[in-house]
Amino acid sequence: MTPALNALVHTLRHEADDILSLELRPLDGPEFPAFSAGAHIDLHLPNGLVRSYSLLNDPGERHRYVLGILKDRASRGGSRWVHEQLHVGQRITIGSPRNHFALHEEAAHSVLVAGGIGVTPILCMARRLKAIGRSFELLYFARSRRSAAFLDELQALGMPLHLHFDDECGGPPALRALLAERLGRSGVHAYACGPAVMLDAFEKDCAALGCADVHVERFTAAEVAAATDARDQYTVELRRSGQVLTVQPGQSLLAALKAVPVRLDTSCEEGVCGSCETRVLAGTPDHRDSVLSASEKAANQVMMVCVSGCRSERLVLDL
Ligand code: FES
Repeated sequence: MTPALNALVHTLRHEADDILSLELRPLDGPEFPAFSAGAHIDLHLPNGLVRSYSLLNDPGERHRYVLGILKDRASRGGSRWVHEQLHVGQRITIGSPRNHFALHEEAAHSVLVAGGIGVTPILCMARRLKAIGRSFELLYFARSRRSAAFLDELQALGMPLHLHFDDECGGPPALRALLAERLGRSGVHAYACGPAVMLDAFEKDCAALGCADVHVERFTAAEVAAATDARDQYTVELRRSGQVLTVQPGQSLLAALKAVPVRLDTSCEEGVCGSCETRVLAGTPDHRDSVLSASEKAANQVMMVCVSGCRSERLVLDL
């Protein structure tokens, strides 16, 4: 659980079609907690929703957090509220930064791939790599120039930048070919953030090209089926609050946790934001989230309780 912070809406600015930037300033002191490139924060919206957005400003800055927010046509009330109701001067509660999309700064070379609003954490990573003098390049795909936010900021950084606008190029980019030109050398780390279809192709192409150091940040959940040995019914011990509960057949772990008095942060409830990350003290989770890497899932030290289940008779959680 990340501590809540009080922030002031300092600036709201149109950046591209349906995209605005939101600059927050701290109200609890002169500085916000430090963050690393790839991190995101939760906005606790006055309408009761909690939504996660990536930080896009320089990680060296402590006096502000800057987010880029797309007005999602399928909005369940989060991005639409920000676009239509949030105003300059408003006070808002936010969570401290979390990072499940961390930059490996020691890499010999980094290839950053942004699709649409996925440019937000990628821009932050580019600023950091530039600041520490590392070798990197960036590929930015968007439907059109009008829908491509933060183009000026990217161009000002001066790294090799490949731009692709579907409407000017007559269709989507040839991702496999673009990656093949860039992932050949050893020590390359590849990062991508964007629409699910692009990320699925990115992961497939990187695997086919033999690149193992691949990192993605998803805004929408990947379909993850339950494990074949996932339990219908299991016992969950909440070690800190001393409660024991049974997850019944047809019931989700999240529903069972919400039925007891326990403090649990959630935001997306789809396994993409990391808000509900919970330490696993014993037992074997059935990980169905899009946050943890394969090795983190195999380690079974933490789990996203909003979508995951259990493969053992008993699960002990640090709640
Ligand atoms: Fe977002 Fe669980 S609430 S990952």
